Amino acid sequence: MEDQAARLRQLIEDRTGYIPLAECEKIEETDESKKSSARIIAVTSGKGGVGKTNFAVNLAIALSKAGKRVILIDADLGMANVDVMLGTVSKYNLSNLCQDEVSLHDVLLRGPYGVNYISGGSGIEHAADFSVPERQRLMQKLVQCEDLADIILIDTGAGIGKNVLDFILAADEVILLTTPEPTSLTDAYAVMKAYSIYAPNKNMKLVVNRVYDELDSRDVVAKLRRTSERFLKMTVECLGYIYEDRSVMNAVRKQVPFLISYPDAAAAKCIMAIANNLLYGGQVKIKRGWKVFLQHFLDFSR
Ligand SMILES: Nc1ncnc2c1ncn2[C@@H]1O[C@H](COP(=O)(O)OP(=O)(O)O)[C@@H](O)[C@H]1O
Ligand SMILES: [Mg+2]
Repeated sequence: MEDQAARLRQLIEDRTGYIPLAECEKIEETDESKKSSARIIAVTSGKGGVGKTNFAVNLAIALSKAGKRVILIDADLGMANVDVMLGTVSKYNLSNLCQDEVSLHDVLLRGPYGVNYISGGSGIEHAADFSVPERQRLMQKLVQCEDLADIILIDTGAGIGKNVLDFILAADEVILLTTPEPTSLTDAYAVMKAYSIYAPNKNMKLVVNRVYDELDSRDVVAKLRRTSERFLKMTVECLGYIYEDRSVMNAVRKQVPFLISYPDAAAAKCIMAIANNLLYGGQVKIKRGWKVFLQHFLDFSR
């Protein structure tokens, strides 16, 4: 059994070029990267299955193509599937960091297509469940991510459960993904509401997924924006939209992200536009930094 698992892992490693960072050369630390702290962006949604993981994985690739050092953290605990989309198998995940003998370099993987990522896993659903020494260990190790990344992208779970809120409230920026479906919109609004109440510095942007034309997206954004301004006194910007596109499903089946397998597809072009918007579109608001993110997430007073 063990033998079979090892062979399977080897097969996948050969196919995707997956290598634990510990076994590769260190990622370059440029002077530029040392000057400013990483941007911490959480990708979330009200309802599950709206396309968060596809979005996060392909956005990470787009940002990395633009020359940014990206670390993607799979924090959709329980439904962790960044590995599945990248076609990789990870030996360690986020929760293994609590173990003394596991280092950040063991869990930080150099995935295919230039994306460095930390695989998700169960066991870290509630940071509050960790003992103080475990939290300290996590903190000490995760804090090192900041020196290795310009952007830390976090794929969270859906909804307003404590485990998701922990992540989105601690991030500098939140991308809220929705589809034009009424159920997706209502659930997106619930996230906006929770965020507007608890977030210390509000910075939420919308992405509308699975639209048939641009008008769909404009309608959705106008509705959410109006409601948010009126009832939550919060302004939300739109970062872009992604077309309904069969290549997304085909790419998932192939386990090769659509930005790579179908670079000319409509969905891939939309992701490139969103990455561009994220990098050059507007002013980046306050960056509190990765350390503050971790302190908030692991909240030592709990
Ligand atoms: N733009 C799109 N066009 C077509 N299908 C999509 C699109 N975005 C997502 N999907 C479909 O939705 C499924 C769920 O996406 P996923 O990224 O796993 O959602 P989540 O992470 O929010 O649960 C995908 O496997 C894909 O089949
Ligand atoms: Mg997901």
